[in-house]
Amino acid sequence: MINPVTRAALALRERRRAPDMAQIMSALPVPVVLLDTDNRFRFVNHAAEQFLGISASGLSQLRLRDLVPEDNPLFLLVEQVRKSDASVSDHDLSVDSPRLNKQGMAVQGSPLPEEPGAVVLVLQDASAARALDRQLAFRGAARSVTGMAAILAHEVKNPLSGIRGAAQLLETSVDPRDRELTVLIRDEADRIRALVDRMEVFGEKPIMRTAVNIHRVLEHVRKLAQSGFAPHVRFQEIYDPSLPPVWGNRDQLVQVILNLVKNAAEAATQEEQPNPEIILTTGFQHGMRLAVPGSRARLDVPLLVAVRDNGPGIPDDIRPHLFEPFVTSKPSGSGLGLALVAKIIGDHGGLIEVDSRPGRTEFRLHLPVLTDEEADFGA
Ligand SMILES: Nc1ncnc2c1ncn2[C@@H]1O[C@H](COP(=O)(O)OP(=O)(O)OP(=O)(O)O)[C@@H](O)[C@H]1O
Ligand SMILES: [Mg+2]
Repeated sequence: MINPVTRAALALRERRRAPDMAQIMSALPVPVVLLDTDNRFRFVNHAAEQFLGISASGLSQLRLRDLVPEDNPLFLLVEQVRKSDASVSDHDLSVDSPRLNKQGMAVQGSPLPEEPGAVVLVLQDASAARALDRQLAFRGAARSVTGMAAILAHEVKNPLSGIRGAAQLLETSVDPRDRELTVLIRDEADRIRALVDRMEVFGEKPIMRTAVNIHRVLEHVRKLAQSGFAPHVRFQEIYDPSLPPVWGNRDQLVQVILNLVKNAAEAATQEEQPNPEIILTTGFQHGMRLAVPGSRARLDVPLLVAVRDNGPGIPDDIRPHLFEPFVTSKPSGSGLGLALVAKIIGDHGGLIEVDSRPGRTEFRLHLPVLTDEEADFGA
C-alpha cells in the first residue's frame, strides 16, 4: 500500500508534468498542421481549423490535394522539406480552389525528426504577417515611378542640356554682374540632371548579372562611409567567410548597400546617440524561397545581408510608406534611397525586410546565389 506522503508526492509530480503536446498545440493562436508521408492531415490545431474553415474531424478524412491543387507551390515546399530535411518557408503563397481561397499566405514547413516524411506546416494570413511588424517590401514597391522615370529621362534630359549649353555660352558674353545668373542656371540644370540620373535607375531595364562577392561590396561601402559621410561611426562586421557569391549586378548592389549604410549613419549620428554604431552581417539561410513574378517558379534566396544601426528607429508616420519614393523625414532628403533599394532588390528577385525599434533598426536583404546552371552559362 502506498503511504499518504508518497501518494501526495506522486500527485504533485503528476500536476507538474508538462501538458500533452497536442494540448499546447491546440492552445497556440497560430494555425499549425501536421501532414503524414501521404499528405494526410494527421493533426490540426484549433487555429488551423478556423484558418482552413474545416473541422479537425473533417480534415482527418482529407489529403492536402483535396484542398490545394496539385500544381500549387505548396506541394513543392512540402516535398522540399522532405528532401532537404530542413525548414523551408514561402512568403507569398496563394491558393485558389473550391475549398480554399487564400491570397499571399506565409507558410513555413519543417520536418519532424521523430517521424521521417511527416511535415509540420505553420500557416499565416497576409494580414497576420503584416501585424507582425515585419515589413516585406516586395518587388514592385517602386513600380509607381517606373513609367515616370522613363519619361523624365527621355523628355527632360535633352532640353536640359540645351539650357545648360546656352547658359554656358551666355556666360562668356554677358556683363560680369549678370554672370552670377548664368552660373545659377548652369548649377540648377546640373542639379536637375543629377536627380533625373537617379530616377533613371527606376526604368525597366534587364540587369546584367555576374558572380558578386558581397563582402567586397560591403568593404567598399564601409571605406566610402568612413572616409566620407560617416567618419565618427563605429563599424562592426560579422561576416560568414564561406558565403557563396551573389548572382547580381555589382554596381547596383553597391548602390543598395550605400543607401542603407547612409540611412543607418544618418540615424545613428542623431544627437541622442553618443556611440553611433553600424553592424554589417552576412549569413546563409537555408530554405528561404520566393515566388518569381508572373510564374509559378520559386527562387531560392538564401544569402542574408543585414545593415543594423543603433539610431532612434524609423518614425511611425514613415513606416507604412517606407519604400515609396519621395517619402522622407529629412529636411534635405529626396526620399529616393529606399525606393531605389526596393527596386534593385526586386529586380534581383530578392526580398528586403525591416525590423525597427528605438536603438535598433535592421534592414535585411535576402538574395539569390550563383547556381551551377548560371555558372555554366559563363557568368
Ligand atoms: N536606418 C534608419 N533609421 C531610422 N529611419 C530610417 C532609417 N532608414 C530610413 N529611415 C527613414 O526612412 C525615410 C526614407 O529613407 P530614404 O533613404 O528613402 O530617403 P532619405 O534618406 O530621406 O533621402 P535620400 O536617401 O534620398 O537622401 C528616411 O527619411 C527616414 O525617416
Ligand atoms: Mg536615404
